[in-house]
Amino acid sequence: MISGIGELDRVLGGGIVPGSMVLIGGDPGIGKSTLILQLLAALASKQCPVLYVTGEESARQVSMRAARLQAADNTNIFLATETCVESIAAMAAEMTPSLLAVDSIQTMFTREAASAPGSVTQVRESTARLVTLAKTSDLPVLLVGHVTKDGAIAGPRVLEHMVDTVLYFEGDRGQPFRILRTVKNRFGSTNEIGVFEMKESGLAEVANPSALFLAERPVNVPGSVVMPSMEGTRPILVEVQALVSPSNLGTGRRTAIGADPQRLALLTAVLEKKLGLTLFDHDIFLNIAGGIRIDEPALDLGVVVALLSSLFEKVVDPTTAVCGEVGLAGEIRAVGQMEMRLREADRLGFTTFLMPESSYKRLEKLPESGMNIHGVATVQNLVELLFQKE
Ligand code: TYD
Ligand code: MG
Repeated sequence: MISGIGELDRVLGGGIVPGSMVLIGGDPGIGKSTLILQLLAALASKQCPVLYVTGEESARQVSMRAARLQAADNTNIFLATETCVESIAAMAAEMTPSLLAVDSIQTMFTREAASAPGSVTQVRESTARLVTLAKTSDLPVLLVGHVTKDGAIAGPRVLEHMVDTVLYFEGDRGQPFRILRTVKNRFGSTNEIGVFEMKESGLAEVANPSALFLAERPVNVPGSVVMPSMEGTRPILVEVQALVSPSNLGTGRRTAIGADPQRLALLTAVLEKKLGLTLFDHDIFLNIAGGIRIDEPALDLGVVVALLSSLFEKVVDPTTAVCGEVGLAGEIRAVGQMEMRLREADRLGFTTFLMPESSYKRLEKLPESGMNIHGVATVQNLVELLFQKE
């Protein structure tokens, strides 16, 4: 089943598979119910009757939200406020919807378990009951699960192995961007993301995420550089920011937001050893702007450039993008899909691109814009090229 919401369909692996069980996890308030309601409205407008069961809100609250999302006057959306999974199964059997959404699993209970809703046993047993419903009636079921900050004992984590697809809805509540990430998918790739923006009228798809993540970039400020990251099949340009300053304490603090702190520690050690820098007495903060998380090693070069730029107080030209893995010997190593990354940077008007020497040698097609592309082999090379020009 294709909803027509492109960012969502792609993350689902092309659409919703009949009889499948999809879990959407995320922090409370991030927008899960909003996303579900928009999905239901999209399917309902294609003449598919859909059933939304909520144990979280009153019918009135849901209808007010639906009105705001302009999803209210669709006669194919059915709403029930119910928390007993046996009753939900009976309802589904009677009305045979094309999709069932249950919001949230923490509010549901099965008569077969004695413990309270929200407990691990109830969450697991209720999910098992819904899985049976999905599989026996070929009905796709969408389940919402809250993740709590403290690791979520009774949250979606315990359910991941029971369902076919797990999506996480992420973002900083102070920011409008939301990222829908595939964590598990029996029917598609697991590294896709969908990008949305939370607006007054609900979630809007973001067709050009690179422009969004770079929108508020400070220009001509040290400690900032752009890196094209691959998110599944899609390149997205992100801004890597670093702040390196002498510490008031004996040993500096290390903080990474949106990137792996261990990786930051490793890269800092490489810079100390290979460039002879003293960093132990500096506080080092690393941030990927816009609340996105980057896990690929291709980020390394961005981190290194941002760190050095902040440390040296030297601005990196704002039309420069960098991408590559950094090894323990200070060598810059090849990363995959360089041509797609290069094309995205070119599309957004970047005129200089630093990449691993080995990737550079392997490039088959250069952008027609005549972009300046440099291959770098080591971190020493990098410093000469970027910071010792004049
Ligand atoms: P919600 O979908 O209720 O989150 P969840 O189900 O994950 O707990 O959405 C929560 C926030 O989204 C809420 O604080 C208000 C905001 N919001 C908007 O900004 N615009 C909208 O159109 C809607 C429906 C919600
Ligand atoms: Mg909700």
